[in-house]
Amino acid sequence: MFGNLKAQPADKILQLIGQFRADPRSDKIDLGVGVYKDATGLTPVMRAVKAAERRLWETETTKTYTGLAGEPEFNAAIAALVLGGTITPDRVSSVATPGGTGACRQAFELIRLASPHATVWVSDPTWPNHLSILNYLGMNVRTYRYFDAETRGVDFAAMMADLSLIRSGDVVLLHGCCHNPTGANLTLPEWQAVADLLERTGAVPLIDLAYQGFGDGLEADAAGLRLIAGRLPEVLIAASCSKNFGIYRERTGALIGLSEPARREVTQGTLAFLNRQNFSFPPDHGARLVTMILNDDALRADWQAELEEVRQGMLSLREHLARELRDLSGSDRFGFIAQHRGMFSRLGASAEQVERLKAEHGIYMVGDSRMNIAGLNATTVPILARAILAVGI
Ligand code: LMR
Repeated sequence: MFGNLKAQPADKILQLIGQFRADPRSDKIDLGVGVYKDATGLTPVMRAVKAAERRLWETETTKTYTGLAGEPEFNAAIAALVLGGTITPDRVSSVATPGGTGACRQAFELIRLASPHATVWVSDPTWPNHLSILNYLGMNVRTYRYFDAETRGVDFAAMMADLSLIRSGDVVLLHGCCHNPTGANLTLPEWQAVADLLERTGAVPLIDLAYQGFGDGLEADAAGLRLIAGRLPEVLIAASCSKNFGIYRERTGALIGLSEPARREVTQGTLAFLNRQNFSFPPDHGARLVTMILNDDALRADWQAELEEVRQGMLSLREHLARELRDLSGSDRFGFIAQHRGMFSRLGASAEQVERLKAEHGIYMVGDSRMNIAGLNATTVPILARAILAVGI
């Protein structure tokens, strides 16, 4: 049997971690995988997470199984964080999942179960693992144009032109905020236009919300999603706690389904069924920490304050890099870096230029020229700026 296995393609993002570690240069810079790092290069455990862990250790009395959907308190807390109380509970189904990837996977499984022939439309480009999982599951996938290579903003006209082909029952995957890999995001009027189109066509939105709080703030980052949720009868949301709670390895996320109230019970049951088929019970530790933080005023205030520091830090780095590039190049062509939001910006460099950044300057970014802004600090910003110009970007 094992003789039938073929080598699988390595994940381009995760591959970079190994390459970076193996590079002996002491001045190398890691702008690869989407993990927040502080100015010293550490991915810290957030203060509120530490405090919740201490409290949990002291008060937890059992490690028996949780429910197939996870703990109801977690599902309620995460739905409130994402939806902001805009949706009545009789429309909301939710299960805990192993991270945001687990939520995406379960969403795709639900789509396949409900509408095996549906086409899932993803932005070009999108997070490569969206495509990888969709292809692995054998689903119909089409792409819609998204990124304007010239301006490095959203090519909204092209996006809407491509999405004009969607049909009732198709699914449109949208990034709730902080688009991965580009950093270019829809404005609220653009979300409105997408909602109009979805409403007109009967297509179903699937919103991947992996970076809430990393862009314009916790509420602003969910504004487009909430607009869609308020208008469309059926919505899928894959939410991740990996980044905004900094609990990457705890695998904490949720798949939320919004339906008409009459369909809620079956939807909720199906989500739990799908958990059972894939892994039975979702991981609990991270979900419990998130629940404790969101439901405790002091912990929540401290978490929000630290998340805001993280967000502001990334914004300052963006502004610093754009300024440095303007001063060195004498042009405004890198202004998009300050306009983008979240952890990533797509530079718009060629694969050769990205390779030269790595080989000649020890700067690692994903091959499509996605850079993780959080991998920078005040010292490395000017180094990166000089390297960007040196390789002719
Ligand atoms: C990323 O895009 O770098 C992160 O979401 C990590 C991952 O799993 O790819």
